[in-house]
Amino acid sequence: MQSESILSEGMTRKDIYEALLAQIEFLFEQETDLTAILANTVAVLKTTTLPFFWLGFYIVRDDQLILGPFQGTPAVFRIGFGQGVCGMAWKQNHIQIVPDVDQFPGHIPCNCNSRSEIAVPVCHNGTVVAVLDADSDRLDSYNETDAKYLEKIAEIIGNHWF
Ligand code: SME
Repeated sequence: MQSESILSEGMTRKDIYEALLAQIEFLFEQETDLTAILANTVAVLKTTTLPFFWLGFYIVRDDQLILGPFQGTPAVFRIGFGQGVCGMAWKQNHIQIVPDVDQFPGHIPCNCNSRSEIAVPVCHNGTVVAVLDADSDRLDSYNETDAKYLEKIAEIIGNHWF
């Protein structure tokens, strides 16, 4: 496990994500337990300067998403298909970028300080198996760079899913 955090203020958002991709690929070479890998994935993402007030996985179990490894304040345990930002990412199998959570119909609040959110489906063999969700305590925190790289991270995880 690489112990250094990616914290350099001099790095662009793209630079940070590029470094993260290699780090997350490396996690799958080191461990075979999926929960442990997901736990360290959120840890490496959370220890950057990226705007992740809350970051974690919701895992598909039957007709619900269930809270998985995360970093941040306690969160809702279960989310239904199509419910909230995460349930919509699952239902549409499409990334959700929410500049202002108060403007998203059906947003499920987990912490009153969350202002913007991004939710990315994780697919394995064409089926959504999880949602990677991130919240920021500032409005409009996520852009196309976050979308592009969080989708790459979701792809790495989905390809290794077992
Ligand atoms: N806001 C999410 C719920 C999960 S928390 O943000 C951690 C939603 O609307 O699905």
